[in-house]
Amino acid sequence: MMDVIAESKTRVLQGRDERRNQTIPSQSPEERDRLVHAFHPDYKKEEYHRIRIGPNAGERTVREVAELLESDSSLPDNLDLTPQYRVDVLVVGGGGAGATAALTAKAQGAEVLLVTKLRLGDSNTVMAQGGMQVAITENDSPVTHFFDTLRGGHHKNDPKLLKVLVEEGPMAAQWLIQLGVLFDRDENGNLKTKKGGGSTQPRLLTCSDYTGLEIMRVLKDEVLNRQIPVLEFSPVVELLSDADGTCTGAVLKNMDNGQLIVVAAQSVILATGGSGRLHIEGFPTSNHYGATGDALVLAYRLGARLSHMDTFQYHPTGSVYPEQLAGALVTEGIRSDGGHLVNQDGRRFINELDTRDVVAAAIIRECAEGRGVKTPAGRVGVWLDVPMIDLLIGEGSIAKRFPAMVRQFQRYGMDIREEPVLVYPTLHYQNGGVAIDVDGQSQVKGLFVAGEASGGLHGRNRLMGNSLLDLIVFGKRAGVAAAQRAKEARVRKLTLTHVTRFRGELEKNNIKPARVAPIILPDYVRREEAPPPRPSRSLINQTPYRISPRSD
Ligand code: FUM
Repeated sequence: MMDVIAESKTRVLQGRDERRNQTIPSQSPEERDRLVHAFHPDYKKEEYHRIRIGPNAGERTVREVAELLESDSSLPDNLDLTPQYRVDVLVVGGGGAGATAALTAKAQGAEVLLVTKLRLGDSNTVMAQGGMQVAITENDSPVTHFFDTLRGGHHKNDPKLLKVLVEEGPMAAQWLIQLGVLFDRDENGNLKTKKGGGSTQPRLLTCSDYTGLEIMRVLKDEVLNRQIPVLEFSPVVELLSDADGTCTGAVLKNMDNGQLIVVAAQSVILATGGSGRLHIEGFPTSNHYGATGDALVLAYRLGARLSHMDTFQYHPTGSVYPEQLAGALVTEGIRSDGGHLVNQDGRRFINELDTRDVVAAAIIRECAEGRGVKTPAGRVGVWLDVPMIDLLIGEGSIAKRFPAMVRQFQRYGMDIREEPVLVYPTLHYQNGGVAIDVDGQSQVKGLFVAGEASGGLHGRNRLMGNSLLDLIVFGKRAGVAAAQRAKEARVRKLTLTHVTRFRGELEKNNIKPARVAPIILPDYVRREEAPPPRPSRSLINQTPYRISPRSD
């Protein structure tokens, strides 16, 4: 097998001169549609289920999310709800959106408590490599940013949210710079920008390939500097409501001792990120360990509508080899700087900077049609010819621009400056989430949502770098609105009425919940014990990534 891989790798090296000057045009809208319908996981009807209860009843989503939305609460209806904490604003989530919301609410004079499942900063934000989109260059504008994003999202983006994102982008970047984020600059001290897939202008602000880590470093410091109280290892297991269905707080679980903690809050902001760890359709994920879709289930049970829950982002270049890195992100920045995608025969097959759904579908097609390369563990992928970057823009560029990537592979004895890597799409982002207005307000009074947990902004496919911007712009807006509401709100009751009501709905519809949720942490089964994968048309990389339902 290693011989087959080595032969294919040789073809990659031999083809470099020819590929160097080759231009692969972007797909036309018709080609794009045909490709994603045939090969993108979002379009596999057999993976989709009808949601039977709640605000989105009748709509379709993937099995893993449907199970989550029809899950049971871990709490008994008659829990003692005497609060241990009373705050103006409870922020749930310790990533970029949560930290931004907490800082902003605090700046408005609110008493804020930030609670998080793992540690402050443990989030997808720190894993964001490629950059943050902001229209700041001479040839660019918020309008161009708007239309690029709309095209990327298949014109399904909420235009009101999108308008706010692109218009407030430059201010968001300014805020981060003032706090101390060190974006890359050129020799004159000007901010450097680079182009992401599906964008017509270079507008990514970067910190090499550590952009999210650098942003989170600063936000985290600021949360500590501002002395915002933080409860770590304390995930929310249920929201609280009054008799009108207004959100009035939350119940947390101390992960060290299992004790429940009741928090009364005038406003709650959910910023718990996405759901990659649900391993939708059996895909590996680039997401951090806590990304189990908690906001979806918490908000839904309380009556909040979700948006775009039929679409997920499979980042085209998840690592396939070595096995320890399966699913880990190989940043789009590599393709942006000239890395080629090459099939087993040494041929390019797609414009590397087409939108992510298109590039992912093209890779799945190559593998499904036998032009992929098989790893010893049985995964399949195509080559990402990283060393092309040094050939195109000069020796040392890879080391300088992608230190995180170089290090990631070096740990396993691979040098991406010298050799191509194998990649296949990895579950990367929840395109949809809890529906919000421009202030992050969900359909439930008192409940705000920010960042990846919210839905509507990105339509059916997010552009690279728009999530870092999303979490700053809408984290700030949610922080302001939640603090404002806290000033006006009166003291309300803490009840689990909505849980009782939801249980009634489950029973009335004869639904036996498959699990208890929020899941909190993924419950992995060992490879040899994994259930056989479901048959699948385009999913080549059948993996052991199944989460077994929890019974506790
Ligand atoms: O490829 C990347 O660096 C990912 C960036 C993003 O999802 O925005």
